Amino acid sequence: MASSNAPIRLLLVEDVPQVAQYVRGLLNAQTQVKLVDVVSDGGRAAAQARQLRPDVIIVDWLLQGRTKGEKVVAQLRESDLGIPVVVLTVPQSPIARNAAAGIDGVLAMPFSGFELVNVVVSMHQASLAASEGARSTMIVVYAPKGGVGKTTIAFNLAVALGQAGIQTALVDGSLQFGDLRSLLRVPGDAPSILDLPTDRIGESDLQDVLWRDPSGIDILLAPPRVEMAEMVSVRDVEKALSLLRRIYGAVVVDMPSALGDIPLALFDAADTILEIVTYDSTTIRNTLAIADAFRSIGYPASKVRYVVNRADSTGGIAADDLARALGRVPEHTIVSDGKLVVSANNEGLPFVLASPDAPISRDIAKMAAELVGPAAAVAARR
Ligand SMILES: Nc1ncnc2c1ncn2[C@@H]1O[C@H](COP(=O)(O)OP(=O)(O)OP(=O)(O)O)[C@@H](O)[C@H]1O
Ligand SMILES: [Mg+2]
Repeated sequence: MASSNAPIRLLLVEDVPQVAQYVRGLLNAQTQVKLVDVVSDGGRAAAQARQLRPDVIIVDWLLQGRTKGEKVVAQLRESDLGIPVVVLTVPQSPIARNAAAGIDGVLAMPFSGFELVNVVVSMHQASLAASEGARSTMIVVYAPKGGVGKTTIAFNLAVALGQAGIQTALVDGSLQFGDLRSLLRVPGDAPSILDLPTDRIGESDLQDVLWRDPSGIDILLAPPRVEMAEMVSVRDVEKALSLLRRIYGAVVVDMPSALGDIPLALFDAADTILEIVTYDSTTIRNTLAIADAFRSIGYPASKVRYVVNRADSTGGIAADDLARALGRVPEHTIVSDGKLVVSANNEGLPFVLASPDAPISRDIAKMAAELVGPAAAVAARR
């Protein structure tokens, strides 16, 4: 789901060029609503809506041609995209709102820019409120220090969410080194985020570049070579994420340790920063430094959840001391299991599937359930 200050994306189904132009003109004067496309052939409306995933659709009820307005509305309802539809009509053909029939709002010509924007914004807000329980969640898996288990945990967490019935995408946010490529033994020519179009991205563009792992999750890979990371912009990452969030119930990101514009954009977009800590003094010191940085950015403390990895290897540091240093008891813990983790990682398999009953797999499954909450898990299973 796009962040709250992103423009609301509107798709207009309209075959009269003058009307389309009029709407375009009204929207040019403001920034709240962005017209993503005008479809003049009603028969293509549902496919285009599926492709572009707008936030709101306006359909001209008086559409001529083979597929009339009423049919377009019915097709949109059947396609079950959950996008609110506003019907455009004239005072001589009044139409009543009828949510059951897929008419969520009505706009009668002539209308002002104010009325247009108002109806689009209120439709969008109502649909956000309605989908609140089932909305997608974005979890970035982070640690300010390397080698503490980010890639291992991100991959297994994503698979565990998939196992819980939530359609899950995993993003390799480590653009330079792309750990997931080596972990999953992805062929060097497998597409990456760099293969997405640079202007408008549709769902099929995204589907073309996702790596489908046998474990059931879809993965957006980092570029295949270190120097290519520079070719990915913050804007590219934001666009890909906002589309992923429209399609997947959960998006998990394997983050790099180093900060920069792209990691900061990913932190901003995230609902939860899952931050890995281990029982060693460097990690703990770096964790506190980052906690300070997050505070000064303005993130609420609840945005970060701590996960103690290898929680049974305390290295002489007491759990109480760790909690005192962090200012709270870490929300999640994962035990160590060198044998299982190394062998599963070497084969590119998630241990949560290879050995679901191992204590480490149970820890990941428990964390997955706690992260999405029971409501989301139920919604996903429907
Ligand atoms: N709970 C665990 N039990 C045993 N071994 C673990 C555990 N978690 C991670 N490891 C091991 O720690 C090593 C580092 O893990 P991983 O590559 O996931 O870390 P990372 O944070 O992604 O590293 P990088 O900073 O290089 O990206 C791996 O060899 C992995 O097998
Ligand atoms: Mg890694």
